[in-house]
Amino acid sequence: MADFETHELDVLVIGAGGAGLRAAIESVERGSKTAVVTKSLLGKAHTVMAEGGIAAAMANVYPEDNWKVHFRDTMRGGKMLNNWRMAQLHAQESPDRVWELEAWGAVFDRTKDGLISQRDFGGHRYARLAHVGDRTGLEMIRTLQQRSVALGVEVFMECSILQLLHNDDGSVCGALGYWRASGELVVFKAKAVILATGGLGRSWKVTSNSWECTGDGHALALWAGADLIDMEFVQFHPTGMVWPLSVKGLLVTEGVRGDGGTLRNSEGKRFMFDYVPEMFRAETADTEEEADRWYNDKKGARRTPDLLPRDEVARAINSEVKSGRGSPHGGVFLDIFSRRDPDYIRRRLPSMYHQFKQLAGVDITREAMEIGPTCHYAMGGVRVDPDSAGSSVAGLYACGEVAGGMHGSNRLGGNSLGDLLVFGRRAGIGASEYASSAPKPAPSTGQIEDIAKSAQAILERENGENPFELLHSLQESMHDLVGIIRVESELTQAKEKLAEFRERSANLSVPTNRKYNTGWHHSLDLRCQLTVAQCVASAALERKESRGGHTRDDYPLPDKEHYGKVNLVCRWTNGEISVTQEPLPIMPSELAELFEEAK
Ligand code: FUM
Repeated sequence: MADFETHELDVLVIGAGGAGLRAAIESVERGSKTAVVTKSLLGKAHTVMAEGGIAAAMANVYPEDNWKVHFRDTMRGGKMLNNWRMAQLHAQESPDRVWELEAWGAVFDRTKDGLISQRDFGGHRYARLAHVGDRTGLEMIRTLQQRSVALGVEVFMECSILQLLHNDDGSVCGALGYWRASGELVVFKAKAVILATGGLGRSWKVTSNSWECTGDGHALALWAGADLIDMEFVQFHPTGMVWPLSVKGLLVTEGVRGDGGTLRNSEGKRFMFDYVPEMFRAETADTEEEADRWYNDKKGARRTPDLLPRDEVARAINSEVKSGRGSPHGGVFLDIFSRRDPDYIRRRLPSMYHQFKQLAGVDITREAMEIGPTCHYAMGGVRVDPDSAGSSVAGLYACGEVAGGMHGSNRLGGNSLGDLLVFGRRAGIGASEYASSAPKPAPSTGQIEDIAKSAQAILERENGENPFELLHSLQESMHDLVGIIRVESELTQAKEKLAEFRERSANLSVPTNRKYNTGWHHSLDLRCQLTVAQCVASAALERKESRGGHTRDDYPLPDKEHYGKVNLVCRWTNGEISVTQEPLPIMPSELAELFEEAK
């Protein structure tokens, strides 16, 4: 075997976003030799794009808030497909995780009484998002990064992982990666591996996701034998920038609507009143006057439809645009200046103010924003045990966006930051405990050499496929055929195209050297992207109902009796993806009763 640079660890965390850093902190604090490896630079994780806040029932603004209401909101937002135990742990533990962050140095905005301020977000009964202006994710990363470095977590930056390594018994024992600058390979031997790689949105043309989000962890887990669940559920955040084209898809935080912003179509109409689904009708305002009352005096009033869960709002915007009532650049209008004065807007939403001013020449204290849906979040992911975050493969753990189950078919805004803290910590505990009695990692030489050879082949092949063209085709196809609204014929077409892309990807060629070779990086990412896109399209074809982030025009209603009771599970067998239906875990009666009480 060639002599590869090698590092030996107890716990390897792949990904340096909020979930990865929180997991690493827990693992190192429990005495495990722990390292984080990231494709990017420490502090630049996509977590910073979760701007509006961390959902946690701390009851700082509404004393009547508690974990049970948060649990119920989360399950209803996910259209009851969530793993109930994950939703329960999340609702119960996120307040502690926020207070812990504060103790570690995060500086949250305050209420008049000096408590951590909490703002409104879609689908949450009460204002419960602890926030730092509209830069909450950034503050979280800054805090976690400082603490992990102080505790002695080792950090390997600008290093991409190609594949997980396994012992002879199939348990995971590390990973093989490459340094993005030099192209040289590096082996990480580890008793346990935690995947915290985030999302997969870069396979769609319009996305809020940054360049790292190529579904690496989803693919690595699948190839290693883990189950992926509910991959059909991809969230389109209702408010991304639509113009200028160079920033199309860039996130416009839900905090704008949480703080009073309203959606209007080209006729100036507050169209969301026309799109309130039955499930939310009782608690949603019928008229503009009623919605205004809610903003001014929140107690007891019915919430505005601008703050329905994201799936509902994204579909409504899509429908307005399709019906010819869109804005000049193909979105709708989001207006906060009519309700809030300039000082309030600049104080609560400083990033949005600068983003629109500098990128679009729009002053949001005086003008409306143009916004439209953007691919934002994967609800599906690695199936994990809720308490330990362990996958179905020994030695492999997953937390944050790469893990599935927590959010069901649609995530509520603000629940991702809580999720990554709660389950990051639990993954750190789970992996560290496993590592304490796991054998010394012993990957075979053969697996490392096989991966090395196939990565090298791309550099040696003349006249093959161009990775940039293939990536472009993938993004177009996912946007056009596996987007917000889906139908059988298009999903079938998507599957055919993806099969063709996969064949072409075997012939990728970037015949130059390894150093700073972005074409090679894209070629290697594409393997993950194509695998994951196939999972999404296959599961989307299989789920013949509309639920949460998955809207089938040919099956417009939810099918409670059948699809409402199953997870779709993707598995990798001999290089092929299979999708099977498996029953959801049953919710215990004391939790099920919470939904009866709410009626
Ligand atoms: O809109 C936002 O600030 C995004 C938050 C989230 O995805 O949780």
